[in-house]
Amino acid sequence: MQYNLLFVWPFLSLLQVCNVGGASSVLNGAVGESIVLPAGVDGTVQAELMQWSENNKVIIQSSEKGMKLRERAFTGRVTMSNETGDLTISRLREEDSGKYVFSGFGLSGAFNPKEVELHVYERIFKVQVDSQVKNSTNSSSCSVTLSCSVLGGSQVALSWSRDGQRIAEVENKTTLTVSPSREEFYSCTASNSVSSLTNKVTVTPCQTYGQPVLNLWPFWGHSVFILQAAGR
Ligand SMILES: *[C@@H]1O[C@H](CO)[C@@H](O)[C@H](O)[C@H]1NC(C)=O
Ligand SMILES: *[C@@H]1O[C@H](CO)[C@@H](O)[C@H](O)[C@H]1NC(C)=O
Ligand SMILES: *[C@@H]1O[C@H](CO)[C@@H](O)[C@H](O)[C@H]1NC(C)=O
Ligand SMILES: *[C@@H]1O[C@H](CO)[C@@H](O)[C@H](O)[C@H]1NC(C)=O
Repeated sequence: MQYNLLFVWPFLSLLQVCNVGGASSVLNGAVGESIVLPAGVDGTVQAELMQWSENNKVIIQSSEKGMKLRERAFTGRVTMSNETGDLTISRLREEDSGKYVFSGFGLSGAFNPKEVELHVYERIFKVQVDSQVKNSTNSSSCSVTLSCSVLGGSQVALSWSRDGQRIAEVENKTTLTVSPSREEFYSCTASNSVSSLTNKVTVTPCQTYGQPVLNLWPFWGHSVFILQAAGR
């Protein structure tokens, strides 16, 4: 039993050191939720010391002596696997955003450090579209102003669509003024890296005092066409 273990062990640690990549990655987390920052180690690592730091400050360390938390802001919110080195941060806060570095060493030398860039965003809770009809002062024309309001969310981007087609020019605008001649569907989508919500509204042509005058135009057009045709 003991013999087998001794024989296998050096190969195991060699393999694992190779698997600790030096790659960096970007992760997005949501406020209040948990996230796992992978140490980039496949399987278990024979580590003498492993640690995670953020902005050059050590957060947590694992050695034969056990686990040691070194950063008060993470009290009760971080755990590190003493086998894979993975760091779990729970109850995320926006200020947890930053650059995290995993490092350590085993019997065969230092692991390649692993870098993880963490961005923490608040989820969007609600999106609402309201419409308001506005008559021009002389009431000959009217328009509908749509406004999109967002509850929650950080770094939110807004986009508008008409009948399912994205309206490019109004990106990130909270209001949109339209005067449709037929029924149209408008939607506002709020999104950030961790959430996306859409709300829709139906806009019908708005009524004006000038409407009866406008209704005469088709007859005018028709007569002109007939006259022109007759003239040829
Ligand atoms: C990890 O920690 C547990 C106790 O928390 C211990 O039983 C186990 O032996 C440790 N594993 C390693 C690889 O250190
Ligand atoms: C009504 O006001 C608009 C500008 O607000 C103007 O362009 C239009 O000619 C006016 N119409 C009439 C009938 O006065
Ligand atoms: C819209 O806002 C988002 C979030 O603030 C930003 O990332 C994006 O660049 C903005 N888009 C435009 C076209 O301004
Ligand atoms: C606009 O004018 C119409 C009548 O032409 C009226 O029914 C409506 O209440 C007016 N809307 C506003 C917001 O003044």
